[in-house]
Amino acid sequence: MELCELRLTNLRNVVGAEISLGPGLSEFVGANGAGKTSILEAVYMLSHGRSFRAVKRESLIRFGEQSLEVFAVIAADGLQRRLGLSRRRGDWAARLDGAEVGSLAELLRQVAVVCFEPGSHALISGAAEERRHFVDWALFHVEQTYVDVARRYRRALSQRNALLRQGGRDEDLDVWDIELEKTASALGGWRGDYLVLLAPYVAEIAATLVPELGAPLLRYSRGWATDLPLSDALAERRSRDRERMHTGVGPHRADWRLSFEAAPEREHLSRGQEKLAALVCLLAQARLFREQRGEWPVICLDDLASELDKGHQEALALWLDSVDAQVLITGTVALPTEFTHCRNHALFHVEQGRVTRLL
Ligand SMILES: Nc1ncnc2c1ncn2[C@@H]1O[C@H](COP(=O)(O)OP(=O)(O)OP(=O)(O)O)[C@@H](O)[C@H]1O
Ligand SMILES: [Mg+2]
Repeated sequence: MELCELRLTNLRNVVGAEISLGPGLSEFVGANGAGKTSILEAVYMLSHGRSFRAVKRESLIRFGEQSLEVFAVIAADGLQRRLGLSRRRGDWAARLDGAEVGSLAELLRQVAVVCFEPGSHALISGAAEERRHFVDWALFHVEQTYVDVARRYRRALSQRNALLRQGGRDEDLDVWDIELEKTASALGGWRGDYLVLLAPYVAEIAATLVPELGAPLLRYSRGWATDLPLSDALAERRSRDRERMHTGVGPHRADWRLSFEAAPEREHLSRGQEKLAALVCLLAQARLFREQRGEWPVICLDDLASELDKGHQEALALWLDSVDAQVLITGTVALPTEFTHCRNHALFHVEQGRVTRLL
């Protein structure tokens, strides 16, 4: 998958930027506050429908403007597609090849982007929600019915929670318990299967990037007891759920964790090691996507030099050299030659929201 063109309008400090991208490595260099991360944010939004920075969506729109627009041409599966995403007064609008599409999901399905950025350690040490997002993004791309099943589950869960808050009758709760079970087994199963498929790639990439941590281990907990159907687990919890007025078990409580031989608990990892562990997961996700879909997602690496030490940068450069993915990297200084000797290298300078190609 390759991003061929990117046009940004009124995104943070970028008034208007037109960027032509080639395969291989595109590097964006500029001072602090120049707009480098904003470019990657735009690319990420095309695939995830949100920014990777935990911000209010409106703060993405340039001060004083009413809307922002991201336009991209993407080559995937031998086809070129034109994608447009805009935000105005709290709503997203999406266009595919010039025609408005009814749901954002239709657009997001066209683009796969994985992004490593200064907040990525949250994948290891942050809330479980981050880790569920990570897996669910992949399921969204490979499981045809994921969107419907996940929506059905969310609806049933909010109905059950509403009933718990109102002190609803047992017969009514029974109905939602059955509905939740129908979708929970699919969600729980997909997530578990995905992590099983991911594990060998995590091991392979960890051996390259963080051999000092030893063998990795991925553990999944699906959100309710492994030996019970969800409806039984819900029945067991019902009185506690009534007291707390929300549903305490189910796929919405799922989590997974990554540990290493040399760091059996998450707390044993330094902040830098958490970042490396997150990078391992993201690259493994990209590698598995390649396996499942036959092409690489776009790999974005924000502020790489300030996140990784020299040795780990070199190991990453070697790994990137061995794969055929399009890579976008930002930094305040130019990348070392380990990265840039690769097949195609384009260098862009970013200054006060303006992007100029230097090389
Ligand atoms: N809604 C907005 N409207 C206008 N400017 C904004 C808005 N939100 C953020 N900015 C500004 O946009 C600029 C771009 O920020 P960005 O995070 O992309 O910079 P960066 O090049 O990644 O910097 P750093 O090297 O510090 O990470 C910053 O100067 C920021 O103050
Ligand atoms: Mg930045």
